[in-house]
Amino acid sequence: MAHTSYYSCMENQIAELLQNSRRCAVLTGAGISAESGVPTFRGEEGLWGKFRPEELASMDAFMANPKMVWEWYNWRRQLMGDVKPNPGHHALADLEQIMPSFWVITQNVDGLHKMAGSGNILELHGNIHRNKCVKCNQLCGEDVDIDPDNIPTCTHCGGQLRPDVVWFGEMLDPVVINRAFAESEQADVFLSVGTSAVVHPAASLPMAARSEGAKLVEINPEPTPLTDLADISVRAKSGEFLPRVVEIVREHAGRG
Ligand code: OAD
Repeated sequence: MAHTSYYSCMENQIAELLQNSRRCAVLTGAGISAESGVPTFRGEEGLWGKFRPEELASMDAFMANPKMVWEWYNWRRQLMGDVKPNPGHHALADLEQIMPSFWVITQNVDGLHKMAGSGNILELHGNIHRNKCVKCNQLCGEDVDIDPDNIPTCTHCGGQLRPDVVWFGEMLDPVVINRAFAESEQADVFLSVGTSAVVHPAASLPMAARSEGAKLVEINPEPTPLTDLADISVRAKSGEFLPRVVEIVREHAGRG
């Protein structure tokens, strides 16, 4: 019973914040896709598993062993190929329809926000379904299967194709990250959903929002470095919690 009233109190508080705000930015991480069946990165069961990230997701790794890197990305593509957005993704797509300004800033490369119907999406770390040239960065086709033993080459410069994701040691697209900071700094409320908030520059966005006056809300079953800094931090799964918040916001919008 106490459990139920804790959640309903949190839902109401967050819904009220959203109702009283014009601009909202949301940072999402692997946790929002966990309920769709996409593994998160960290932890024993995490995607990085026994590898160090740099061993699989870096230019050095690709140069040393492109076959191994493509085998890993093909496995991840396969994992992500069959998954569908969950109620957490749908709740964010619904909020975009209700709020005057609403942006999803995601570290995820799975494309599930778009599939759920969100329109204002900033993909900080790229998209695993796209390929680009390792040399000239030209985009080279979406959902084109790659044979790790015979990696296709760029039609422009002949470089090998790689996934269009940001690897360790690489810069984020400046247009995308600058827009993410701008939307965060203008936000009245900033939601951090399903991220361990340890990888920068993404992890700096909540702080940038907060220092410009946004209320900071975190939704995560586990505490993170943001927890003590957040105005509200809820220990919950986003696919269970977010739809209830949206329901309250929607009821209120309907009354208004
Ligand atoms: P992590 O794997 O670091 O963190 C996932 C977070 O999701 C954890 O804090 C979990 O507690 C939380 N979580 C798990 N299930 C959840 C659920 N049902 N609802 C809400 N939260 C849940 O993933 P990210 O924070 O996304 O970068 O990692 C950030 C970046 O590190 C990734 O984009 C990737 C990785 O290295 C690159 O590849 C460049």
